[in-house]
Amino acid sequence: MKLADVAWSDTMSIGITSLDNEHKVLAQKLELLKLCSNMNEPMEALLNLFDDLIETLHIHFTHEELIFKNISYPGLKQHAQVHAAILKKIKNYRDQLSNSTNQDDFRKILLFLDASIGGHLSLEDAKVKDFIHRAE
Ligand SMILES: [Fe+2]
Ligand SMILES: [Fe+2]
Repeated sequence: MKLADVAWSDTMSIGITSLDNEHKVLAQKLELLKLCSNMNEPMEALLNLFDDLIETLHIHFTHEELIFKNISYPGLKQHAQVHAAILKKIKNYRDQLSNSTNQDDFRKILLFLDASIGGHLSLEDAKVKDFIHRAE
């Protein structure tokens, strides 16, 4: 199974530079993980990259929620719940992989990471752009 390459594009900008930069880093780390998986790197190396991605995601979610709070974003509560649900599911997948040496198990999880992280950035985070540029 070969995974598609999904790169950052400026259309994904939400108009808050620090968060855009973090989104770029997340997209790059996800791409690196997919690249290493496609190259059949050892499971240990993949799991190290996966752990790093989870840590980066955790820090990003916390930072994003703080910024959304500071700009009084009305969707904050629901948005934070989505963050928590994504992180919980990803950590569960990570735990499942601890006992696996099967690279196909890892690829299935990559599809979920792509859909959940990529989808969240481009659909949910993007909503804040409308809020920032709303008519007064
Ligand atoms: Fe985000
Ligand atoms: Fe978010």
